[in-house]
Amino acid sequence: MKYIGNKSNLLGFIEESLRSADVPLRGHFTDLFSGTTSVAEHFKKLGFSVTSNDFMTYSYVMQKAFVESNKQPSFDKVIKSLNLSVTSSPVQTVLDHLNNIEPREGYAFHNYGAEGSQKRMYFTKENACLIDAIRDAIQDWRDTDLVDESEFYYLLAVLIDAADHVANMSGTYGAFLKIWRSVALKKINLKNRIVFDNSCLNFANQENAEDLITRVSGDILYLDPPYNSRQYAPNFHVLESIAVWDKQELSGITGLRNYDKQKSDFSSKTKATQALSKVVSSANFRYIALSYNNEGIIPHGDLLEILRAKGEVQIFIQEYRRFRTERDHDKRRYKDVGDKTQEYLFIVTVKP
Ligand SMILES: C[S@@+](CC[C@H](N)C(=O)[O-])C[C@H]1O[C@@H](n2cnc3c(N)ncnc32)[C@H](O)[C@@H]1O
Repeated sequence: MKYIGNKSNLLGFIEESLRSADVPLRGHFTDLFSGTTSVAEHFKKLGFSVTSNDFMTYSYVMQKAFVESNKQPSFDKVIKSLNLSVTSSPVQTVLDHLNNIEPREGYAFHNYGAEGSQKRMYFTKENACLIDAIRDAIQDWRDTDLVDESEFYYLLAVLIDAADHVANMSGTYGAFLKIWRSVALKKINLKNRIVFDNSCLNFANQENAEDLITRVSGDILYLDPPYNSRQYAPNFHVLESIAVWDKQELSGITGLRNYDKQKSDFSSKTKATQALSKVVSSANFRYIALSYNNEGIIPHGDLLEILRAKGEVQIFIQEYRRFRTERDHDKRRYKDVGDKTQEYLFIVTVKP
């Protein structure tokens, strides 16, 4: 998934840096800003018991499906109730059923579909109507107890992933494109994903990191806060709507949700340093690993001061490709600074 700050291409760098810093890779791992859950899932696979968190609902859905849950859904009740004949696997049977559902003109069609009343070109008419039918079916099954909680989150997570894949945008939902990208013209397709079982208890959370930090403890605390002033809520609002499905009234040309309660201090130049200081000083962990970027809004000196107050700091650096949307290319934003940024991993061995 294309997501600002997605660490899926930096998992090796993060793991190797921790090994080089002699951090024992076992025990309990907390990922306080989980986003796509790439880091939480990686450390789950390494055998850690994992606590994940993010204040966005679409992230919480993915955490519930792939971090907290340890079992591939069986879908017993829904298969029986709809009299579906099981093909290659129960999961594939249910996904095939949803992929072939009758499309319907609903909330997604009206608000995010090219032919809806708002003419927003996030999805083709067919895909918007399929999103409506699939999302309503998943909700209906949950409300009538045909799927349990983990089955519900699994289906919702694969729907979010599939919708994101065919969305007509270039990296964020800050704007839709005015001409169709080729992948947006493909039919939405829910794909089977394996749920990894680490035989541990794992916990998904949807809280403000500044609050949750006072109630968690463990071995490694991984921090990957936003590093620039782009708020996540307006940039990924379509995924949030599909996750929440509250069908709220949207505003403006791009159809924004209200996000008063999902504004991050970490994306505010005046508040970010204090927010990080609060999280780090409250942390009750043996090690803290912080991902940040050389263009982040917290000055390097402030970062080091905050971390050094907690213990000995080691710094690992990797060159990385800049996150760009098509608009960034059009406006030649960042043209003076090139395509590369430096990705830092600060590892703190916390003073006893
Ligand atoms: C850099 S991204 C994390 C990316 C993630 N590591 C990944 O690989 O996908 C930062 C995340 O922090 C979340 N976030 C920002 N401020 C937050 C806060 N105060 N509390 C909880 N989550 C927050 C955003 O929603 C976003 O998903």
